[in-house]
Amino acid sequence: MRVKTDFLVIGSGLAGLTMAIKASKFGEVILLSKGTLDDNNTVYAQGGIAAVTSPDDSFEQHVKDTMIAGAGMSDEDVVRKVVTAAPPYINELVEMGTHFDKLKTGDYELAKEGGHSKNRILHHKDNTGYEIHRALVEEVKQNPAITLYEEYFAIDLITQHHMGQLVKRHHADTECYGAYVLDIKQGNVKTILAKTTMLASGGAGNLYMNTTNPLSATGDGIAMTYRAKGIVDNMEFVQFHPTSLYNPGERPAFLISEAVRGFGGILRTLDGKEFMHKYDERGCLAPRDIVARAIDNEIKTSGDDHVWLDCSHLDSKSLVEHFPNIHKKCLSLNIDITKDPIPVTPAAHYICGGVKVDLNGRTSIKNLYAAGETSNTGLHGANRLASNSLLEGLVYAHWAVDHAAKNIGNIEFKEGIPDWNDEGTSHPEEMVLITQSLKEVQQIMSVYVGIVRSEVRLQRAYDRLWTIYNETESLYKQTTISKPLCELRNIINVAYLVIKHAYSRKKSVGLHYIN
Ligand code: FAD
Ligand code: SIN
Repeated sequence: MRVKTDFLVIGSGLAGLTMAIKASKFGEVILLSKGTLDDNNTVYAQGGIAAVTSPDDSFEQHVKDTMIAGAGMSDEDVVRKVVTAAPPYINELVEMGTHFDKLKTGDYELAKEGGHSKNRILHHKDNTGYEIHRALVEEVKQNPAITLYEEYFAIDLITQHHMGQLVKRHHADTECYGAYVLDIKQGNVKTILAKTTMLASGGAGNLYMNTTNPLSATGDGIAMTYRAKGIVDNMEFVQFHPTSLYNPGERPAFLISEAVRGFGGILRTLDGKEFMHKYDERGCLAPRDIVARAIDNEIKTSGDDHVWLDCSHLDSKSLVEHFPNIHKKCLSLNIDITKDPIPVTPAAHYICGGVKVDLNGRTSIKNLYAAGETSNTGLHGANRLASNSLLEGLVYAHWAVDHAAKNIGNIEFKEGIPDWNDEGTSHPEEMVLITQSLKEVQQIMSVYVGIVRSEVRLQRAYDRLWTIYNETESLYKQTTISKPLCELRNIINVAYLVIKHAYSRKKSVGLHYIN
């Protein structure tokens, strides 16, 4: 079956929903989600969205904090443009029904997180992402120009390659004509032809065993772009959040927001000693790469499984009011955060690199745009400043549609694209081949390509991955397409890129730490 649309948006997190709502003013939109609409990183976001909204703060301070966190590798032009563009887009979220917490004065109640010199995080209790997503989904559902395709999995971007032409890597003439998409419930593949394709397919936390990301974060957009020969960069900068709740076997790992440290929570070793000031004068509120590495070092040195995050000295009523979900979750494990220390450990959280885009959200492939965690805009450099991700997704979603809308009148649907061909394939008989390979990749990445790396470990990781890559490609050629198999393939592609980029960066910077 084939379908035509003006805009194909792949992903229903903050970036995808924003793109779809805006693009609907200029044409017909198909919005794809590989799971239900709310299966994405956005709904998990706790701390909030960073933006300058107070007279005590300034754009320059936000720029400076972002540049410092990014270890000097952020693109200053991008940082300045994103930071200064934020306020009207935030107001639009509010107009669409998002509630950010306010003080009695009517001003926003702004939180602080690691690396921020000011309180500037707009939030809704400790579940900001869920609140933003709720408001955007309501808007999308009542929009007649947007057709929702839930449980549809984008397999590959369609380019000249599918018409039998040779596509060279990073070539300026490569064009995107839409995507091949698996209808997961029916088990068949549709050809969706689009004038403009917009990737908003999120992150790749599932490269690792311990991650705060839901199972759906498998880097599909990054892998699809790489296979389509587009530019993907900065993949070595994988951000580990310092404080996921230590609860072995729980996947995804539950996050203890950085805002808890912003509120006064203190990290301690199991014998009760504060340790962060040994590593950085900003203590528990140093940027994330520094705190995660410090915890990793303490854990490796002591042999313990976690450290404590202690909030017992804080005003208990206020603590519970600010962090009701964290309080509830911990209570379910018999941890009362007003009295008991919280066991925490770092977990893979965010991928700073991704599909390279310019200031208009354009990728290196024509008529293909990207926004949100799947993209690399240059904002985060070598380490993302807390709560800058929702901001980046929001701003770039707008910029991408602004640009695409200007060109859409000049683009024709491509003729002659073949339908998906699965001749010669059969249903997989042994799912264990897929599930076990996934576990192996996650182990390889966690052990050899984690917070601290070395050349020897990276080489080992590459060698091990190569075997799994070959096995999986051969399985892919013989087997009927399925979501688990495609996700495994994507994770392997993304793992390869992380290892390759880490191997070529010989010096430590930001999140890439080599010893
Ligand atoms: P997502 O919200 O992850 O959405 C991706 C979408 O793409 C999903 O709908 C998925 O179904 C779809 N998709 C993926 N692949 C395919 C495919 N092949 N076919 C079809 N659909 C596909 N950032 C902040 O700024 N502030 C915070 O407080 C914050 N807290 C966080 C807390 C947690 C626990 C986590 C995990 C992240 C947090 N982040 C935070 C990061 C932030 O939430 C994400 O980076 C951001 O929400 C990503 O939004 P997105 O729209 O790019 O992707
Ligand atoms: C958190 O609440 O600590 C997450 C913030 C972020 O990832 O930006």
